[in-house]
Amino acid sequence: MTAQPDVAVETAAPEETAALGAALAGLLRSGDLVELRGELGAGKTTLVRGAARELGVEGTLTSPSYTVALRYEGRVPVAHLDGYRLGREIEPEELDLLRAEAGESAVSFVEWPEALAGLLPEARVVISIEHMGGDRRLVRFAAREPADQALLTQLIAHSRPRHRNGEPESGPHGGG
Ligand SMILES: Nc1ncnc2c1ncn2[C@@H]1O[C@H](COP(=O)(O)OP(=O)(O)OP(=O)(O)O)[C@@H](O)[C@H]1O
Ligand SMILES: [Mg+2]
Repeated sequence: MTAQPDVAVETAAPEETAALGAALAGLLRSGDLVELRGELGAGKTTLVRGAARELGVEGTLTSPSYTVALRYEGRVPVAHLDGYRLGREIEPEELDLLRAEAGESAVSFVEWPEALAGLLPEARVVISIEHMGGDRRLVRFAAREPADQALLTQLIAHSRPRHRNGEPESGPHGGG
């Protein structure tokens, strides 16, 4: 997808994953689409919550698993889509709804994008989250544009908690 190495960051609590979402929000503007990959309970919705809050969405962001798409008003509109339930086959009306939600007027987050491959605009950033045991997760960011990848690396580095000596705890590093 990109010649740049992924940015990979380990988190140890839901709040840290949400904070990564907040850092990501600094990059996003209307029309952008972010894909979130990873198993059930990986932390996709948790990361979207952090991003949405940073984008000015107030109140509770629930999982759209059974509704397919939810929309929130923040400083920019935020669309939260979920392909999970669409595993087998998508009704044309559902696809129209998803495309409308993921249009130019919103920042869109898509969980389980595998089910929607080729049906939505291309993602600006693809995130994948892996279970690492207990509350630990490995969160990888891959931006389509190298310039975005560089900016993301900066945004994440600035958002990470630091040791008292000022060294990054587990800063972004090239994954692989
Ligand atoms: N480091 C962590 N990062 C994110 N979530 C964590 C972490 N540690 C524990 N959790 C817990 O894991 C769960 C993640 O749930 P979440 O709904 O975000 O997952 P999801 O990837 O969206 O799942 P689904 O595919 O079912 O939508 C939450 O209960 C959260 O509290
Ligand atoms: Mg979810």
